[in-house]
Amino acid sequence: MSLAQLKTENLAEGRQFPKLAYKKDKLFSKLINKEENVAVVGLGYVGLPLAVHMASKFKVVGFDVNESKVMQLIQHKDPCEELPEEEFKGKDISFTSNETILKNAKFYVVAVPTPIDNLKKPNLTPLKSATASVAKYLKKGDCVVFESTVFPGCTEEVCVPILERISRLKFNEDFTVGYSPERINPGDKEHTFTSITKIVSGSTESALDLVANVYETVVTAGVHRAPSLKVAEAAKVVENIQRDVNIGLMNELSQIFSVLEINTKDVLKAAGTKWNFHNYFPGLVGGHCIGVDPYYLISKAREMKHAPRLLERVREVNESMIPHIALRLERKLYARKFRKNSVSVLVKGIAFKENVNDIRNSKTAELCLELEKRGYNVVVQDPLADPKEVKRHYGFELNNSPEGEFDAIVLAVDHEDYKHLSYYDHLKNGNEETLIFDVKGDKKDKFPKEVYMSL
Ligand SMILES: NC(=O)c1ccc[n+]([C@@H]2O[C@H](COP(=O)([O-])OP(=O)(O)OC[C@H]3O[C@@H](n4cnc5c(N)ncnc54)[C@H](O)[C@@H]3O)[C@@H](O)[C@H]2O)c1
Repeated sequence: MSLAQLKTENLAEGRQFPKLAYKKDKLFSKLINKEENVAVVGLGYVGLPLAVHMASKFKVVGFDVNESKVMQLIQHKDPCEELPEEEFKGKDISFTSNETILKNAKFYVVAVPTPIDNLKKPNLTPLKSATASVAKYLKKGDCVVFESTVFPGCTEEVCVPILERISRLKFNEDFTVGYSPERINPGDKEHTFTSITKIVSGSTESALDLVANVYETVVTAGVHRAPSLKVAEAAKVVENIQRDVNIGLMNELSQIFSVLEINTKDVLKAAGTKWNFHNYFPGLVGGHCIGVDPYYLISKAREMKHAPRLLERVREVNESMIPHIALRLERKLYARKFRKNSVSVLVKGIAFKENVNDIRNSKTAELCLELEKRGYNVVVQDPLADPKEVKRHYGFELNNSPEGEFDAIVLAVDHEDYKHLSYYDHLKNGNEETLIFDVKGDKKDKFPKEVYMSL
C-alpha cells in the first residue's frame, strides 16, 4: 500500500497523522554521521546486546543505575554472560551510571525491567523512573523508543505524560516516541538481535521512519513497521501469551495423563505424526517473560472491564505445576513408606531455563520451597547460577558437589552440563531406590521404569 493510500485510509477512519516533528531522515543522518548520539537506558539481557550492536554503526552511550554492573561493562564483562568480550571490541560505546550523560543524546532506547508485583499486577516503577531520567534531558526534536514489554497503550498512557510533564515539551510537536519490542531469547545463539525481524512503530510518520531507519541499519533481518504503538505493544505480549497458552494446554493434559498413568511424551509423539499437530511440551513456566507478560494484558483487559477467562485459567494451570510435581513425588515416596522428615531430595538446576544463569522467577526455586514446606531436606545444585544471587533471592545455599545418597533427584533444568549424564552418573548421588523426576520428560529411556517419573 502506498503512503498516499495509507493516509487516505487513516483519514477515512478518522485517524489523522500528527504534525511532523522534524524533517524525515534529518536526525537519522546526524546519528549515522555520529554528530548526535544514541542512548540506551537499562543494560541488561535486552539493553546490552542492543547497545553493543547499535555501537557498530552509531555513537552510543549506555546508562544503567546499577553501578557495579556498569563497572563490569567498562571492563567489557557482561554480567548476564550473553556477550563475549570480543563483541565489545571496536564498538563506539561508553558506559555510565551517571544519568547526566543523557543530555548528549537525541535518540533514546529504554530497556528496563517490567516485572509484576506480589498481586501479579504490572510494576511500572523502573519504567516510570527510567522515563523520568530521559525526560530531564529531553530536547526538541528528540525521539524516545521503548523496548520494555508492556500492555497495549502503556507508552502513550504512562510514559508520554511523564516525558511531557518533566521536560515541558509537547508530544509529537517537540519530541516523538517509538515502541519496538525485543524478541531475543537468552541462551539462544541462533536467534539473536541482528537475526530476528524487529517490530517498529512510531508516534508520527516521521518517527516511524526514523525508528525503522535506525533499526534497519543494525538488524540484518530487517524491520516490520507496525501501524501504531499499541499494535506493536500488543504483538509482543501476544507472542508470549501464545506460548503460555500452548504450554498450559500440555500441562493440563499431563496432569490428566498422570492420573490415567499414560506418559505424556508418548502421547505427544504419537499425536505429532499428524501434519497439523503443534509441538508443545509440558513444563514449568518461569522467567521474566512468558510467566509474567500475560499478566500485563490480563490487567489491561480487566481495567477495560473484560474478564480474560482463558488467559487467567492458563496462568493458574501453569502455576499449579509446582504443587502437582511435589504431590506426585510425595505420593510415590509415601508408597515406599518413607518418613517425610528423613527424605532428601537433590534438585538439579535452579535457573529459569537451560543454559542461562538467570534465576528470576525460577519455578524450580518455588518447587524447592514447596518440597521444603512439605518437610523434605532439599539440596540444590546449578553449575551456572550465581550462589550469592540464589541465596539473596531464595535463601538456598547452592551445593555444586553434593555428597551422599538422595531419596529423589529432580532433573529440573536441562543445562548442557547435565544433558549427557547417564543413569550411573546420577547414581553417584543415589542408589537403585532413588526416584528420578525428569521435568522435561525426555530421558525415559535412560532410567529404569520403576524409579522414573516425568510430566
Ligand atoms: N530477557 C529477555 O529475554 C527479554 C526478552 C524480550 C523482552 N524482554 C523485556 O525487556 C525488558 C528488559 O528486560 P531485561 O531482561 O533486559 O532486564 P534486566 O533486569 O536484565 O535489565 C534491565 C536493566 O535496567 C536497569 N535499570 C532498572 N531501572 C533503571 C532505571 N531507572 N534507569 C536505568 N537503568 C535501569 C537495571 O539495573 C538492569 O541492568 C523487560 O521489559 C523484559 O520483559 C526481556
